[in-house]
Order: sequence, then structure tokens, then C-alpha cells
Amino acid sequence: MYIILLGAPGAGKGTQAMMLAEKLELVQVASGDLFRQALAQETELGEQAKVYMEKGQLVPDEITIQMVLERLAAPDCKDGAILDGFPRNLQQAKALDKALKEQSKAIDRVVYIKVSEGELLKRLSGRWICRKCQAPYHEVDSPPKVKGKCDRCGGELYQRADDNTETIKNRLEVYFAETSPLIDYYKQAGKLLEINGEGGAAEVNKRIAAALQ
Ligand code: AP5
Ligand code: MG
Ligand code: ZN
Repeated sequence: MYIILLGAPGAGKGTQAMMLAEKLELVQVASGDLFRQALAQETELGEQAKVYMEKGQLVPDEITIQMVLERLAAPDCKDGAILDGFPRNLQQAKALDKALKEQSKAIDRVVYIKVSEGELLKRLSGRWICRKCQAPYHEVDSPPKVKGKCDRCGGELYQRADDNTETIKNRLEVYFAETSPLIDYYKQAGKLLEINGEGGAAEVNKRIAAALQ
């Protein structure tokens, strides 16, 4: 089963991908996490991605597509994956369709998590992330049990460099211009499930699980 989580920055893709991955016993493949990992390890890929991420722009397709397709070719993805943050424009969506088709596979469902802009801003400005396992927290809505520490793995929590007002604004603009056309692309393919992403994370997860049934 290959499931894409589609939605604006802060819609809850990472939060829901993690919950779904556990429930469905699939791996989460998050392009943003892969870039941040490369950045932390100071690899060439990380160096290339850095300038774009800092500005809230998309990393060029040739870099991104290769990175994600390589990840999807790993043995733990052979029966499926939860894709979080990829594809993010039409070219990426078409490259993914083609790569899966070559292995007689296809995307099964695309979960579009819909959240109002005001709520997105609130979520992003209060977000903290685990450095080790990438689990997201929110200082008001879903704080960790111990301040600064991840509930799941004890890792240190930090705020993302691109979660500042200026970069958030750019990320939202990029989302509306380049990523939101994918809603129609997958609707036309008969794969889109539109989910109300407002309300608590557990409630949203129930809606997604019900829609996927
Ligand atoms: P990426 O890491 O993918 O960031 P994003 O798309 O901007 O999305 P976010 O991770 O910010 O939000 P999310 O939807 O995962 O929300 P979360 O669950 O954390 O990409 C970063 C950068 O990498 C891009 O700008 C680009 O430069 C590059 N990049 C990545 N992929 C690329 C691609 N395919 N092509 C080119 N470039 C690419 O939740 C947010 C907050 O809300 C958290 O605090 C959480 O606790 C809270 N929350 C979640 N759900 C709820 C809820 N239901 N109620 C209340 N609070 C909630
Ligand atoms: Mg995310
Ligand atoms: Zn953790």
C-alpha cells in the first residue's frame, strides 16, 4: 500500500504519517526529514538542499526525485510506504507514477489534509521536533511530558530553522503555487481522500483511518 499525505506546511502530515505508519506497519518516507538528516550529517546532499530550505523554496526536482526514489527502492519499502512531503509538484508526481509503474505498482490513496491558514500559522510557530526520531510536538496543543525531551525516545527537542514568520510565509506561497495543483491531479486519478484536518491529532487520525477503510 502506497499512501501519500498531501497538505500545506503545518497541516499535520508528519504527525499523521507517524501515526499511520505505526498502525499500518509501513515506513514513513518524509522528504523534508531526509533533507534535514543529510544536513545534520553535513553530506553533499544536505549542502545542496540547505539554501532552498532556508528560503522556504522547493529543492530542485532532479535532487529531490532521485533522493526519494532511492529511498523507496530500499527493502523496507517493497510492500509500501507512507509518503510525507513528496510529491510536491506535478513533475515529482509524474516521476513517482512512472517509477512505481515500472515495478507494476501504483499509488493507492492520497490523503489531502485540509487546514485553515490561521491554524497552520499557529501550529508552525509553536512546533518543536525531536532531533532523534523527528516526532513533532506543539508547545500548547501537544507538549512533551518532560519539557525539551521526546516522549517516544528521550531525544532533544528543537525548533526548525524554517519555522520563522518570514520563511513560513514563503513556504505557504510555494505550497499554493506549486503543490496545491496536485489536489486536482489526484482527484482526476480517483485517488483523493479529502480530510478535515482541524481538531486534535487523534481525531484527525480517526477520520483518516475511516476514509482509508
Ligand atoms: P517539510 O519538512 O516537508 O515541511 P512542510 O511541508 O513545510 O511541512 P511541515 O513539516 O512544516 O508540516 P507537517 O504537515 O508535517 O506538520 P506537522 O505534523 O509537523 O519540508 C521542508 C523543506 O524541505 C521545504 O520547504 C523544501 O525546501 C524541502 N522539501 C521537502 N520536500 C520537498 C520536495 N518534495 N520537493 C522539494 N523540496 C522539498 O505539524 C505541525 C505542528 O502542528 C506540530 O507542532 C504538531 O504537533 C501540530 N499538530 C499536528 N496536528 C495537529 C492537530 N490535529 N491539532 C493541533 N496541532 C497539531
Ligand atoms: Mg513535516
Ligand atoms: Zn524522539
